Amino acid sequence: MPKKSIAVLISGSGTNLQALINGVNNKIINGEIKIVISNKEEAYGLERAEKEGIKNIYLDDKKEKDDKDLLNLFKNENIDLIVLAGYLKILSKDLVSTYRNKLINIHPSLIPSFCGKNYYGLKVHQEVVKYGVKISGATTHFVNEETDEGPIILQKSIEVNYEDTAESLQKKVLKIEHEILVKTVMLFCEDRIKVTGRKVKILR
Ligand code: GRF
Repeated sequence: MPKKSIAVLISGSGTNLQALINGVNNKIINGEIKIVISNKEEAYGLERAEKEGIKNIYLDDKKEKDDKDLLNLFKNENIDLIVLAGYLKILSKDLVSTYRNKLINIHPSLIPSFCGKNYYGLKVHQEVVKYGVKISGATTHFVNEETDEGPIILQKSIEVNYEDTAESLQKKVLKIEHEILVKTVMLFCEDRIKVTGRKVKILR
């Protein structure tokens, strides 16, 4: 099976990106990360890409009009899969429809809980701890026109202990994010994800 060409979009430290880089290097993922794009110039994830010799670009999203630069980059690199790995910008409807079911996001909660507008980063875990739920976790999903509402691909849960703080919970969930994001990209690269409406079937 030919390798899929992957683009990864980041805004921060890029630990999810690093998990994908490791997955490719360990031959778990039958794909190639062709480009890493950040909307934050200082994102450490750009350095992670640089160290691996992966093309990496800072795109000032203030200048971005309807993601035209992103679309051109994806077309030039013949991208098969776009992964949002902590990318803190809403994508245009044009980009979402062009790459429907080829655009994946990782979210640090069990969607549909603690997600949507303004739910990102530590804030998610602060709300989880404040609410007093007993389980949390991470979700991978396809991106559609609404925030964190696309078809769910994989989820994994963990217990929220009474003593957990937002920070301790964030650490536990981040490990799960890395695990299910690598598995999701692995499955996509093996054409083992079938989407029917909102429902996603993982083919054996
Ligand atoms: C992760 O918690 C991810 O779920 C969220 O943003 C964070 C990115 O972390 N979308 P990193 O940059 O991959 O370390």
